[in-house]
Amino acid sequence: MELYFATGNPHKLAEANSILSKFGVLLRHAPSPKIEIQSESLEEIARYAAEVAYRSLGSPLVVEDSGLFVESLNGFPGPYSSYVYKTIGCGGILRLLEGNANREARFECVVVYASGETLRSFVGIARGSIAEAPRGSGGFGFDPIFISDGCGGKTFSELGPSEKSAVSHRGRAFRALGEWLRSSGRAYA
Ligand code: IMP
Repeated sequence: MELYFATGNPHKLAEANSILSKFGVLLRHAPSPKIEIQSESLEEIARYAAEVAYRSLGSPLVVEDSGLFVESLNGFPGPYSSYVYKTIGCGGILRLLEGNANREARFECVVVYASGETLRSFVGIARGSIAEAPRGSGGFGFDPIFISDGCGGKTFSELGPSEKSAVSHRGRAFRALGEWLRSSGRAYA
């Protein structure tokens, strides 16, 4: 089964495809841009983008919205993660947390599947903490400063792609999508 994925981020496409290939699903990069409204809800952002992309493409597709939520910053940068990464980056988040003992954080990911009659959301959460300094060279975005629970203190950047997907917010959300595609008879594997 093939589905479009409306995203401008090649890392997200690669991570999602490595998960969905196990369910017999291939994601193709959608030619339409992802339209992003301003909202505090990842789900609202992803559902709106999926509806707009479906109207333009007319084929079943998925859209994903994700973000890093730092507990002692009241969830900042959350839905603004992409902009915050581009402006202050990992270094900026580390500076905001200087001297702060509470470094708890989580990544959240919402994947929305859209076809003519269906609009369905799948949520994945990865809990962990913000490192004292960036570590590792893999991945993208805030990976060098995020230590996922249950990974021996390694940052996402220090994990291999399949190790990251096993625990990541994106891995969890796309596996839930894959299970649903299979159980609803849309994908066969
Ligand atoms: P958006 O979903 O395109 O709005 O972007 C979310 C932003 O959150 C990305 O640009 C990254 O900065 C960050 N982000 C989301 N998922 C990950 C991840 O798996 N690793 C590192 N950063 C991420």
